[in-house]
Amino acid sequence: MSSTELVVDARGLTKAYRDGEIRYPALRGVDLQVRAGEFVALMGPSGSGKSTLLYVLAGLDRPDGGQLRVAGHDLPSMDETALALFRRRCVGIVFQYFNLLHHLDALTNVMLPALLAGTPPGVARARALALLETLDIASLAAKRPPQLSGGERQRVAIARALINEPMLLLADEPTGSVDRGAAEHILDLLAAANARGQTIVLVTHDPAVAGHARRVLHLRNGQIVAGAAAPA
Ligand SMILES: Nc1ncnc2c1ncn2[C@@H]1O[C@H](COP(=O)(O)OP(=O)(O)OP(=O)(O)O)[C@@H](O)[C@H]1O
Ligand SMILES: [Mg+2]
Repeated sequence: MSSTELVVDARGLTKAYRDGEIRYPALRGVDLQVRAGEFVALMGPSGSGKSTLLYVLAGLDRPDGGQLRVAGHDLPSMDETALALFRRRCVGIVFQYFNLLHHLDALTNVMLPALLAGTPPGVARARALALLETLDIASLAAKRPPQLSGGERQRVAIARALINEPMLLLADEPTGSVDRGAAEHILDLLAAANARGQTIVLVTHDPAVAGHARRVLHLRNGQIVAGAAAPA
C-alpha cells in the first residue's frame, strides 16, 4: 500500500444502539479519511461516540448506514468469518476497558493474537516477552489480569495490540490508567510503531496525549466537527 492510500475511508457512517423500541444514536454521519502512516488523535466529550467509532473501524461492530473501507476492505459487505480474518490480519485494538482474558496469564494474553495468526509459539513467546519487557511488566508475565493493577492491565492490553505489528492500530484511551512516566513510555512505543509505518488512531481526553499525534479530530454528538479532511 502506498503512503497516499487511505487506510480508513468512512463516509456518512451511522450507528445506533437499540434497546427494544428505544434507539440511542451514537454515530450520526461520520466522515473520516486516514492515510497510510498517519497518527491521528480523536478527542471529544464522554458519550460523543469515540469508542463506537473505533469498534466500527475495527470490524467489531457494524454500522447501520454509510460507506466504510478499512485497509482496502469493504467492511459492511463482509460476513463474520471474513471480518474475523480482517481483524486478525489488519487491526490491533487497545480497548478502553482492556478486555483481557481473565483465565489466561499476561504472557498468554499477549501471545494469543500472534498464535491465532499462525506465528510459531516460540517466536510468539519471544515477541510477547520483549514487549512486556519494553513496557516494564516482564516480571508480571505469569499473573492473570485480576491479579494486576489497572495500569498493569493497560500495558498488557497495549502489548497484545502491538504483537502482530498491525497495519492499523486503534487505541482507546491507552494511557488512561497509567502514571505520567508510563504514559510517556507508551506514547514513545506508539510513535515507534508509527515510524515503522503503522497507522494509528488514538482516542484521548488528554490534550497533552493528543499533542503526540500529527492530526487531531474532534467528535461531538456522533459527528466529526473539525479536521476531518486528510492533510494535503
Ligand atoms: N451497548 C450500548 N447500548 C446502548 N447505548 C450505548 C451502548 N454503548 C454506547 N452507547 C451509547 O452510545 C453513545 C456513544 O458511546 P461511546 O461509548 O461511543 O462514547 P465515548 O465517546 O467513547 O465516551 P467515553 O469518553 O465516556 O468513553 C453514548 O450515548 C452511549 O450511552
Ligand atoms: Mg469510550
